[in-house]
Amino acid sequence: MSPDQSLVYLNGHYQPLCDAKISVLDRGFLFGDGVYEVIPSYRGRLFYLDDHLSRLAKSLNSIRMTPPHSATQWSEIFQPLLDPTKDQYIYLQITRGVAAKRDHSFSDDLTPTVFAMSADIAPIEHLRCGTQALTIEDTRWHLCNVKATTLLANILLRQEALDQQCAEAILIKNGLVLEGAASNIFVVKDGVILTPPQDSNILPGITRKVVIDLIQNQRIPFQETAIRTETLDHADEIWLTSSTREIIPVTELNSRSVSSGTIGPMWHRINTLFQEKKAHD
Ligand code: PDD
Repeated sequence: MSPDQSLVYLNGHYQPLCDAKISVLDRGFLFGDGVYEVIPSYRGRLFYLDDHLSRLAKSLNSIRMTPPHSATQWSEIFQPLLDPTKDQYIYLQITRGVAAKRDHSFSDDLTPTVFAMSADIAPIEHLRCGTQALTIEDTRWHLCNVKATTLLANILLRQEALDQQCAEAILIKNGLVLEGAASNIFVVKDGVILTPPQDSNILPGITRKVVIDLIQNQRIPFQETAIRTETLDHADEIWLTSSTREIIPVTELNSRSVSSGTIGPMWHRINTLFQEKKAHD
């Protein structure tokens, strides 16, 4: 089946992607006035669905919207989009809806636009062999904990990394390491795993949460703490986490090797546990 024939969900109806249309007055189109989720599904089983839906509810609340569906309804909506033979993700987007005219201000009585589709998770084996990243000053807004569709800064930062043959941009603000343009970050130093604290400077990643649970279950020394940029220069290991890329080891940062330039033992340990969780959860 060609991608534009694949089934998508739009406002209560399933239809081929090529037939799904929204109004040009949709506030998502005009203002990026909406939020989204990316939920991995391994062979038809949605991974940490409740956590994704709870983050969605928080994102909606932050932009003064209420979830249009219950957790059970979301699950029912997603099922027809999933292929039980594949590793995919659900992309879910909710915008504030269509207003009568373009106006920055909004009323509370708009009907949200709800769109969901599935896509195959792109192969990541090449990234798991160790990848390149660079540090860049964070140019985003102040509500990075909200999973807003307004991603212009993120896409420009990611593209700058790609232009320099790097897989990710690591974002720096006031001398502190925050996260990747589309991922969270972990740093290993002297046997301790560090990650920046969950505040409005970063997205509360679900993969981040899974990784933290694994680390704590193993009783590995761990700190959620502010990480200075210089710490990256002396790190033993650096990892990036996201729903579509899992846990990616960074072996080269700003054109210099991270430690010896090979994948570290802590990554192997946590990634093995993560793969077991994926297979059994
Ligand atoms: N992005 N930080 C940012 C800025 C992100 O965009 C993402 C994920 C993450 C990791 O969150 P999670 O583990 O819940 O995927 C952190 C998704 C994959 C995207 O925009 O496509």
